[in-house]
Amino acid sequence: MTSQSTLEHPLVLAITGASGAVYAARLLQCLCDAQVPVHLVMSPSAATVIQQELQLELGPKRDRIDLLLKYCWPDLKTQDQWRPRSAQQVSKYLEYITIHDYQNYMTPIASGSFLTRGMVICPCSGATLSGVVHAAGNNLIQRAADVHLKEHRKLILVPRETPMSVFQLENMQRAAQAGAVVLPAMPGWYHNVRSVVDLIDFIVARILDHLQVPNTLMERWAENPGLGADE
Ligand SMILES: Cc1cc2nc3c(=O)[nH]c(=O)nc-3n(C[C@H](O)[C@H](O)[C@H](O)COP(=O)(O)O)c2cc1C
Repeated sequence: MTSQSTLEHPLVLAITGASGAVYAARLLQCLCDAQVPVHLVMSPSAATVIQQELQLELGPKRDRIDLLLKYCWPDLKTQDQWRPRSAQQVSKYLEYITIHDYQNYMTPIASGSFLTRGMVICPCSGATLSGVVHAAGNNLIQRAADVHLKEHRKLILVPRETPMSVFQLENMQRAAQAGAVVLPAMPGWYHNVRSVVDLIDFIVARILDHLQVPNTLMERWAENPGLGADE
């Protein structure tokens, strides 16, 4: 459970090579909007998927984060929902982000003594999910996730796969039993969906809610009795 005081600490955001890179781009922008300091680590597969899905080339060190911060879903009808960030905003956002190399265990987030408000793996591949629940520690993402579990801090996993194998289902169950929040990239359709951004924002809003980051990305059910009763 995240206590009030831990909300001052930075968040760890890991991006892995599951489909759904757009969720990570939107989440990162929203965290910067909310002035949440972010320690960011990305797997090589994440960069491949980002290239494939968002047509962004983050470079050999995967450090062209400005491209992710500038990204806007290319649907003209949704421009008012997802405003493109200005160059000024992007340079301000970069002040909130610390980038870590995927194989560097000498970083603060590899240690439980470094205080954080929690960690999100978004999207979370089946491979990383497996590494996390087996405490494999094969890279900085798996190590930082292990740290969050052992320290009983918030860990949010956003897997995306369909259909799911028995192994993936078992791994999600194990993660939940260990205290992680398993929040699959599985958007609802009951909130007057009009665009792809509505679906992206459904997932990002749920992640932000679990991190106690105030947001108005999607209309809440209580605010509109016309919306469905699902959670
Ligand atoms: C375009 C593309 C889409 C992928 N989509 C998924 C996916 O949705 N879910 C998943 O678990 N793996 C997916 N993969 C496979 C992972 O990238 C692969 O298992 C990789 O080893 C994950 O490594 P990582 O966990 O270190 O990022 C995808 C790969 C590519 C190239």
